Amino acid sequence: MNVVVLAAGLGKRMRSDVPKVLHRLAGRPLLGHVLDTVRTLSPSRIVVIHGHGGEAVPTALAAPDLAWAKQEPQLGTGHAVMQALPHLDDAAPTLILYGDVPLTRAGTLRALVETAGAGALGLLTVDLQDPTGYGRIVRGAAAADGARGPVRRIVEHKDADDATRAIREVNTGIMVVPTPMLRRWLGALSNDNAQREYYLTDIVAMAVAEGVTVATAQPAHDWETLGVNSKTQLAELERIHQRTVADALLEAGVGLADPSRIDVRGRLVAGRDCFVDVNCVFEGEVVLGDRVSIGANCVLSNVTIGSGTEVLPMCHLESAVIGADARIGPFARLRPGTVLGEHTHVGNFVEMKNTRMAARSKANHLAYVGDAKVGERVNIGAGTITCNYDGANKHVTVIEDDAFIGSDTQLVAPVTVGAGATLGAGTTLTRDAPAGQLTVTRVKQTSVPGWKRPVKAPKVPKE
Ligand code: UD1
Ligand code: CA
Repeated sequence: MNVVVLAAGLGKRMRSDVPKVLHRLAGRPLLGHVLDTVRTLSPSRIVVIHGHGGEAVPTALAAPDLAWAKQEPQLGTGHAVMQALPHLDDAAPTLILYGDVPLTRAGTLRALVETAGAGALGLLTVDLQDPTGYGRIVRGAAAADGARGPVRRIVEHKDADDATRAIREVNTGIMVVPTPMLRRWLGALSNDNAQREYYLTDIVAMAVAEGVTVATAQPAHDWETLGVNSKTQLAELERIHQRTVADALLEAGVGLADPSRIDVRGRLVAGRDCFVDVNCVFEGEVVLGDRVSIGANCVLSNVTIGSGTEVLPMCHLESAVIGADARIGPFARLRPGTVLGEHTHVGNFVEMKNTRMAARSKANHLAYVGDAKVGERVNIGAGTITCNYDGANKHVTVIEDDAFIGSDTQLVAPVTVGAGATLGAGTTLTRDAPAGQLTVTRVKQTSVPGWKRPVKAPKVPKE
């Protein structure tokens, strides 16, 4: 199969400098959704027609399996498909899609292609309460058994008379056409119509005139054919998409406090008996083991979490791997390169970056741990800071197994705390701390007998 995706339009009603198909739904450009769906059908060619936005669209979605054809100026949907003709393989049919219709299911496209079979033209149609603006599917008389009559042609809203405008079956724009016929019919298009455009839809009447069957298929859900023309429609489609993702998660056994308050911008894979509280955002690839719970208002981006781990509310976790039975948050921030072992605890206002912390170690309050290797059963006290950056280069802090880092400690990297070492509270460690010993850098505590607080000088009255 060949696939042609039309994406040259301006999208004036988006009121944006960004080409319409690059606006994001679930974190991915609209056109990206269409291409992802199409790829599941394993087509032999994918040709994208771009125009408005210049090279921005091909640059944003560049991939080795895509051919790009520029349409300039944009003289209609038929003219757009003409630009793809040099790329198409005549031995396979051509499926035509729009880059601004992001939610079409692969199964719907497969059904359309199967309905059309080898020699027919296939149209995806829907019946709408309000068909205003759409091309109408004009059919011949219904069959004796009540089946819809054969398709005769498509008439665009602007070209339709009142009787035609009363038809509620509309063209979604998605169609599949035998490629040699597509070439011939496009060559015969004229722009003699209300919009002075080369209408792709005019090929339907040409097919009928040649006795080629025009088959139709309907999507499982009307929303599969909705296009994005404004920010309002984009927001509506985002909610529809998120609701279908949430429903699939529920169906798979994931507990959601509220399926209308979760956003998955990528892929969320969860084991058994996981639970997600309200207002969580999942980005990229997030993998949860069994019995993982995610508290309210968390953002997880490319994170893997082991079974039994609890993420408390208000955490931001990014490119991190967390072992089983850990407890993270509330208010924890894990930055890229954080790898935590099982039964670890990372508490409130703890930031970690590029740090491995092994099993059963804890950093429960107020700490910055960056570029560190932390062993097992280590306790990192409140206010601990790894001074990993000297203004020019980053350095590593090593904390070996069973070390105890007292509160308000600075570890000036590169530095190593030996196994079982204890650092007294307030230590500023600039050299390695030996294993098993107490290291303190505090000045000795002294008390000054008879010391008096300064008293405020009496105000001298102004003359
Ligand atoms: C088109 C169909 C109409 C259908 C409707 C469904 C035609 C003539 N009409 O109408 O039957 O009901 O879609 O939404 O096909 N595009 C280009 N180059 C162009 C013109 C359009 O790439 O020169 C792209 C647009 O970016 C868009 C798609 O084609 O993605 C559809 O164009 P649009 O102008 O929205 O078509 P409609 O007039 O809505
Ligand atoms: Ca449109």
